[in-house]
Amino acid sequence: MSARFITFEGGEGVGKSTQITRLADRLTKSGVQAVRTREPGGTPKSEAVRSFLLQGKSEAWGPGAEAVLFATARLDHVNALIRPSLQTDHWVLSDRFYDSTRAYQGLTGGVPDKLIDALEILALDGCYPDLTIVLDMDPGSAFARMTKRARDEKTELAPDRFEKEALDWHGRLRQGFLDIARANPDRCVVIAADEDPDRIEREIWDTVTTKFPEAQAAE
Ligand code: TYD
Repeated sequence: MSARFITFEGGEGVGKSTQITRLADRLTKSGVQAVRTREPGGTPKSEAVRSFLLQGKSEAWGPGAEAVLFATARLDHVNALIRPSLQTDHWVLSDRFYDSTRAYQGLTGGVPDKLIDALEILALDGCYPDLTIVLDMDPGSAFARMTKRARDEKTELAPDRFEKEALDWHGRLRQGFLDIARANPDRCVVIAADEDPDRIEREIWDTVTTKFPEAQAAE
């Protein structure tokens, strides 16, 4: 039995982290060892690149340079965490992966496919996800959700580098992820994210166990 690599993608505020936690819990209960990680980040070197990117320091360099930086972080993430985890029989659940570069910097940011393709080959070196869950939500609802969360947690809503883009930009981003999913039907599953979190959790679990029946075998 080989370990599986599952990525979660989607726009801002679609609830990826809640659902990754729920999937990780279900897998653990099934006796599957799962590593939870995120992009940009996941390793000490990649987390350093994350700070540079999300604090907005990279913005002046433009989307092409940002794509290179995301790929730089990804290279270490794949080599130091993702591949070694899979090789030691740990499933990997990543909050974002290369589809985010394609959607944010490529389809939305206008970076040419040629550069995006080259960065994908360089950073992944064949380490492709077995399954990508695209959480899809209307950007207006996602924004309302983020605002409510900030209010409930009594935190300031301090948008990062990408969260502060205009609503129509988020609409193009959403379409970008849907286009990626349509172009990769064997790997990607789109799940409506503006519904009850319990229902979304069940839909994700059904998707995972249908594709990888071994996940349920130990239940
Ligand atoms: P994060 O706080 O992790 O946001 P989210 O909860 O939406 O995942 O910030 C990651 C940000 O970086 C997010 O705005 C998406 C963006 N990003 C890219 O633009 N390109 C990439 O390749 C990746 C991995 C992330």
